[in-house]
Formats: sequence, structure tokens, C-alpha cells
Amino acid sequence: MALTNWPALHGEAFQGQRVLVTGGAGFIGSHLAEALIDLGAAVVVLDDLSGGSVDNLADFSGRAGDRLRFIEGSILDRAVLNDAIAGCGVVFHQAALGSVPRSVEQPVRYHEVNAGGTLNVLEAARAAGAERVVFAASSSAYGDSETLPKVETMPVLAKSPYAATKAAGEALMRAYAASYGLDTACLRYFNIFGPRQNANSAYAAVIAAFAKALLAGERPVIFGSGEQSRDFTFVDNAVQANLLAALSREPIGGAVLNVACGQRVTVNELAQMMAAQVGRPELTPEHRPERAGDVMHSLADLTRIQQQLGYEPIVTLEQGMAPTVAWYEEVLV
Ligand SMILES: NC(=O)c1ccc[n+]([C@@H]2O[C@H](COP(=O)([O-])OP(=O)(O)OC[C@H]3O[C@@H](n4cnc5c(N)ncnc54)[C@H](O)[C@@H]3O)[C@@H](O)[C@H]2O)c1
Repeated sequence: MALTNWPALHGEAFQGQRVLVTGGAGFIGSHLAEALIDLGAAVVVLDDLSGGSVDNLADFSGRAGDRLRFIEGSILDRAVLNDAIAGCGVVFHQAALGSVPRSVEQPVRYHEVNAGGTLNVLEAARAAGAERVVFAASSSAYGDSETLPKVETMPVLAKSPYAATKAAGEALMRAYAASYGLDTACLRYFNIFGPRQNANSAYAAVIAAFAKALLAGERPVIFGSGEQSRDFTFVDNAVQANLLAALSREPIGGAVLNVACGQRVTVNELAQMMAAQVGRPELTPEHRPERAGDVMHSLADLTRIQQQLGYEPIVTLEQGMAPTVAWYEEVLV
């Protein structure tokens, strides 16, 4: 299903290596696990299935054979984590609770899983002698600053408990690199989308929510004018950033790196593009009052990740839209 031919990009770079993907039954984690399998790695997936599903592993578990090990368990369970991490050189830490509104309702739970769980992952990695932890950080760290594009040197201005937990994770990554020589990287994802992103959650990301509405023959709902813009990023770009971070010969030292496409599209343009993609251009968006706390514009500067990891976006928004909508058609219709 993947758009990208990973072996064509990275050859046998992970042949014979064991890696851990926490949250690997989730949206981004499962794409990463799939790419790693295709690159020859032995992949351990640790996921408590609170947000993910084993269905996300089904596309590639057959061809993975015994190189894929799925452990249903939590990053809060240290014994399970120690078992999962044994023999792994690189840990891709994707597990987290992801919804901003839910984090406002459950700040303590979010802190426990996202910040406490990240500390557990770092401790387990240190104890196991892993070489590097690559962390799924978030562009929510930029808060509602109006400066564009977002550059990693800008201050962290977390506005939600979710953003605060992700910022805490970044601080821990930096601290472990400095204190213990465990190399770490913080990849700040910007609006990642693609197949396997949950559309049934009340907090579904905008592309998932639009796909669900359009495929049900309903008009997509936009909160506010729709002139808010985002740097929508197809999931393969996030996978590519993770692979490049894992393969870096230079220490990354806890650096924060934006992961995006480097282009912004308004929510109105997105709705139009998606309606055309499903063949229902007449389903124009329905506008509702703006939601408090919504950031108006978001756009990443990619200079640092280009310089440090040689990252370039490999799939555009337009290229990523067709397989995304096709996947929603398969699971929702
Ligand atoms: N999707 C985005 O646009 C985006 C943007 C910024 C950051 N992120 C981060 O990327 C990562 C992956 O996000 P996603 O969009 O794939 O979300 P997702 O919910 O599909 O994946 C997260 C996975 O973590 C698992 N998980 C949650 N708590 C766990 C625990 N205690 N122990 C083990 N597993 C646990 C869930 O079951 C799920 O499978 C997350 O850390 C998220 O914060 C995502």
C-alpha cells in the first residue's frame, strides 16, 4: 500500500538490525514499522491498543514473518518495556495519547503517559544500551505564535496539556543525550495524514474528518472561515525523517527538527481538493463558529532537518491524497 519504495531509497540499511517502535500499531508507527520491515529490520512493536489497532499491522505482518513481534502492553509497564527493548539498537518512540481537547479534560493522564512514559522509554533504552531514541515530537510546541515559518529556534509556547507533555518529552530527550550519551532526536511533526489515521475518533484530524463526511455524502464542517492554513504532511515524509534520524552517522544530540512539507494549504482549499478526489465537488464546506484556541496558520521551515539529516519531503499533499481517500473508502464505505 505504501507509495514509497523504501528499499529503493535506503537499500539494505536496516538488514539484521533489531528496532523497537512504541505505538507501532498506531497510524504513523505502523507505517514506520512497515518501512523498517521492508528494509530488512527485525521490528518489535509495543502498543497498548488504546488508540491503535492490530489491523494496522495486517497489511505487512504476512511478509514480515518472524521479523515482526507485536507486544500488547504499555510503556508505563517497565517490565514489558525492558523485554521489548532488549537487543534493540534504535527506539522509535511514537506511543502517546494524541488529542489536544482530550488532554484538556485529562491533563494528569496525558502527563503520565506522554511525559512519564517517555521517561520510561529513555530509562529502558539507557539500561539496555540502545544507541539512539527518535521521539515523535509535535509542532504544537510552537503554540499560537503568529510568526511564519516556524523555526526550531523559536521559543516553546505550549498552549495545551498535550503540547506541554510533548515539550517535556523534548526536554527529556535533550537531557538524556547530554547526561548519558544516549543519542536522541526530536522530530516535530506537522499535521501528518495518510491511510490508517483514525477517522472515527471524535478528535479526528481534519483530513480524516473530511474524508469521513464526504464519503458519507455529507458536507465537511469547517470551524471558522477556513482561511486557516496548515503544512499538511503525508505520512511517508514522517517515516523518511525517522529513517534518516536512525541512520545518521553523526550524533543528533537531542536536536529538535521540524518534519513537514514546507508548504501551506488553507482548510478551504483542502476541502475542495478532497471533494474533487471523492468525485463530489458539490459537497462544499459548512462553516461553523471558530473554535477557541485554534492556531490560524502553520508552516514549517525545513532548513535544519535538511542540513542535519539531508531530509527533503518525498511525497506532496496532492500525491498523498489519492491513497488516503482510497483507504478511507475501503474502511468506511
Ligand atoms: N498525527 C499527527 O499529525 C501528529 C502530529 C504531531 C505529533 N504526533 C505524534 O506522533 C505519534 C504518533 O501519532 P499518531 O498520529 O500515529 O497517533 P496514534 O494514536 O495512531 O498512535 C499512537 C499509538 O500509541 C499507542 N499508545 C498510546 N498510549 C500507549 C501506552 N501507554 N503504551 C503503549 N502504546 C500506547 C496507541 O495505542 C496508538 O497505537 C504520537 O506520539 C503523536 O503525539 C502526531
